[in-house]
Amino acid sequence: MSGEKISNPSGSVQKQPPVATRRAAPHALPALPYADSALDPVISAQTVGIHHGKHEKGYIDNLNRLVQGTEFADMSLEKIIAATAGKADKIGVFNNAAQAWNHAFYWRSLRPNGGGDPPAGLKQKIEAAFGSVADCKAALAKAAAGQFGSGWAWLVLEGDKLKAVNTGNADNPLTRGQKPLLTLDVWEHAYYLDYQNRRADYISAVLDKLMNWGFADENLRGRPWLV
Ligand SMILES: [Fe+2]
Repeated sequence: MSGEKISNPSGSVQKQPPVATRRAAPHALPALPYADSALDPVISAQTVGIHHGKHEKGYIDNLNRLVQGTEFADMSLEKIIAATAGKADKIGVFNNAAQAWNHAFYWRSLRPNGGGDPPAGLKQKIEAAFGSVADCKAALAKAAAGQFGSGWAWLVLEGDKLKAVNTGNADNPLTRGQKPLLTLDVWEHAYYLDYQNRRADYISAVLDKLMNWGFADENLRGRPWLV
């Protein structure tokens, strides 16, 4: 996809990369960065297809319906999330915007033949915060397994330090002043067809075989993530 042209206040035109978070309504379902079957056998093509094509698409369709004709219609997902977080009367808009953001981020947090050793810069930060990559994975597994009910586990940057955290339902570390680097979806729809109630098996398989440490490293260095 080519970049979009953005007018700045002086009237000249700059070439900007197509950053997901800059977009306003109608929000589109981002294409997966790989085929539905690319994560098999850790996550089956059936799970990926339903998760992306039904669940994620549902959040985006709901969001477009909810923001039409409102003050949120021209906002990016990140702006909607910031504007609605913690507001009881906007919970529907928040939930659907955050789930749209979280899912786009989740698919990029995974990659076929992932896992292994993180890039050097990220590895240093991991070792400073957790002791080792294995300890970081253990902390992420604990955050993911310890999330009661639906939610997410995240590797985040808080200040200058990495942390493993979890959030419930649609909640997102952006609203807590933390910078997300990687996420793992622990809603049942993410694993139930493949693992049934064995959430811990899904978590350990994904951490060992699908983690996209390169994506986390890019986020650590502030590179915009694309869809
Ligand atoms: Fe999900």
